[in-house]
Amino acid sequence: MATINDNYLKLKAGYLFPEIARRVNAFAQANPDAKIIRLGIGDVTEPLPQACRTAMIQATEEMGERTTFKGYGPEQGYLWLREKIAAHDFHARGCEVDAEEIFISDGSKCDTGNILEIFGKNNTIAVTDPVYPVYVDTNVMAGNTGEANEAGEFAGLVYLPITAENNFTAQIPSQKVDLIYLCFPNNPTGAVATKEHLKAWVDYALAHGSIIFFDAAYEAFISDAEIPHSIYEIEGARDCAIEFRSFSKNAGFTGTRCALTVVPKTLTAKASDGSDVELWKLWNRRQSTKFNGVSYIVQRGAEAVYSPQGQVQTKQLVSFYMENAKIIREKLTAAGFHVYGGVNAPYVWVKTPTGLSSWDFFDKLLHTVNVVVTPGSGFGAAGEGYFRISAFNSRENVEEAMRRITEKFKV
Ligand code: MLT
Repeated sequence: MATINDNYLKLKAGYLFPEIARRVNAFAQANPDAKIIRLGIGDVTEPLPQACRTAMIQATEEMGERTTFKGYGPEQGYLWLREKIAAHDFHARGCEVDAEEIFISDGSKCDTGNILEIFGKNNTIAVTDPVYPVYVDTNVMAGNTGEANEAGEFAGLVYLPITAENNFTAQIPSQKVDLIYLCFPNNPTGAVATKEHLKAWVDYALAHGSIIFFDAAYEAFISDAEIPHSIYEIEGARDCAIEFRSFSKNAGFTGTRCALTVVPKTLTAKASDGSDVELWKLWNRRQSTKFNGVSYIVQRGAEAVYSPQGQVQTKQLVSFYMENAKIIREKLTAAGFHVYGGVNAPYVWVKTPTGLSSWDFFDKLLHTVNVVVTPGSGFGAAGEGYFRISAFNSRENVEEAMRRITEKFKV
């Protein structure tokens, strides 16, 4: 008789966003005339930049000609794209990242989960609370945790609370942890980390032989000049950090799929015989075996982000969403809500009106004003009493949603 991976049984019934979709669909079916505005999942709404479209159309034409047709590409991504990324995203900010250390993929969600395959089973793993749920769920699936308690916390994981009191930046743990997930700008709270904060983490990781998984998927939304965009802006990070980035949010690629992971060649971890092994080699081996690369057409589209027109157009996209974030912040603040984030990140993190749990307020908003948000408790126990609003939507929808919420709820 075949058996299953029992770890899946430890997971809560559904992944957060499908669970929200289930509730919203049930409501929509029962109320077909309701004009629902979705500010829940952080999915982009604005069309792809013209520069990316033009590049992808041209690449499609190349695929239609025998002389320029391409079959399998390099599993790590085409070097012309990796070189552009190295130059624009890293060298331009003073970071030492070689093109060969950049692996092109179809998403940071996949990579932050898949990366666990190259690590052992006995690592102590730290996540913030609240946290992007993928980091936790993929560890559960991989068998790196025990069962969940009533608050939804899994045995074996170290939860680092991020709260208004610590500016949503976790305190460096007193105990030793081996793998640490950091996400800045933060999903879900919209917080950012100063250079000093990241340096404290890098120093900790170097002192303990830990590896930091640094999720920088929202770095393009940073407007404050002092805030680092990459962990490699911190000295020593090449020896303790893997960075994840994405074209999903800055260039509208959530449906097009392109991302990248940086594994420095200087980064090592221990084999069970005590020897040091280069993580780059393992990740390269993993990708070569299990992945056949992102399509040529999509990689040409991503390359166009770095063209002069692409740079202008992606900046416009980012500014558009950040203007939405500003509207959300200002309207909710004026209505008396306690509002965080939304300045260097496309997410606004808001306290629910007194006495209401995250899911209660989610349901109330859905049923009374037909606006979908993400309940804070879906990101972890410490997210209880908060909700997250995504700035990814049309201006019209954001303004209308704010009008509906602030007319109905004065805090
Ligand atoms: C979110 O809403 O948190 C994002 O859509 C997550 C993601 O990009 O997978």
